[in-house]
Order: sequence, then structure tokens, then C-alpha cells
Amino acid sequence: AVQRTFSIIKPDATNRNLTGAINAVIEKAGLRIIAQRRIQMSQAQAEEFYGVHKERPFFGELVEFMTSAPVVVQVLEGENGVAAYRDVMGATNPADAADGTIRKLFALSIGENSVHGSDSAENAEIEIAQFFTADQIVG
Ligand code: CMP
Repeated sequence: AVQRTFSIIKPDATNRNLTGAINAVIEKAGLRIIAQRRIQMSQAQAEEFYGVHKERPFFGELVEFMTSAPVVVQVLEGENGVAAYRDVMGATNPADAADGTIRKLFALSIGENSVHGSDSAENAEIEIAQFFTADQIVG
């Protein structure tokens, strides 16, 4: 079924002017960008977004990184959208990412890994709602 997922183009990618290059990979994979906005994430927004990782040793570093430069938040839509985007992103650690994936092509490290994508349909809904209202999403 057609499904929505939430995506973030992260600071390492916006810093290197890769928004368009990443969007081209997304669109080539058949996903449609149905909402998109460039923002400077606040510390509170980053802490809320990554709340599930609060107890992880890398949490502070993650929040600092995500607030270090602008990000592009997006809603993507396509057949099996959540899984389809995870396939296009590649493994979290770019060293493990398959050829042709966004992280293989562009990511620098496990932290500076260029993109985020929701890990389930349930989380996609929650994540989308943190950054977009229904009227901002035009499918
Ligand atoms: P993301 O999909 O945005 O969700 C959580 C993020 O935590 C993940 O991508 C990585 O960028 C980051 N992350 C995971 N493991 C580590 C780690 N060991 N060190 C730093 N960042 C990490």
C-alpha cells in the first residue's frame, strides 16, 4: 500500500550542498516528496525528536550535531514508503551501506550519516506530526 515516511536531510549533507543530490536519489527510487521545509532545529526539537535515544551514550553528540546547521525535513510517499526509504538510505553506518544508497554515496560516519528515515509506520506518523500540519502535506 502507499505509505508515508518522515525524512531528515542532516547537517553534514546541507553543509556540503547535497540537498538536491539526495532528493534526486529519493525521486529516482520512486518516492514522492510531498512536503519539505528547511529549518534550524532547536535543542528542544532535537531532544524531543530523538527522545528514544536519551539514555544512549551518543545522545548529547547527536543533539549537538542535529542543531549544528540547517536540516531539511520532508514527508515522502510511495509504495511501502517506510521500507522503501530505508532501502534507499542504506545501513546506519556508511561502512555497511550497500552500493547506490544515499549513505554509501554521501555519508561521512555513523553520526554524520546524511539522512534520517522513520523505522516504522507508527513512528512515521509521530515524526511527521512533530514538524508538519496536515495542510502542509500535499500528496
Ligand atoms: P538516525 O536514523 O537519525 O537515528 C538515530 C541516530 O543516532 C542515527 O541515525 C545515527 O546517526 C546516530 N547514531 C547511532 N549510533 C551512533 C553512534 N555510535 N555514535 C554517534 N551517533 C550514532
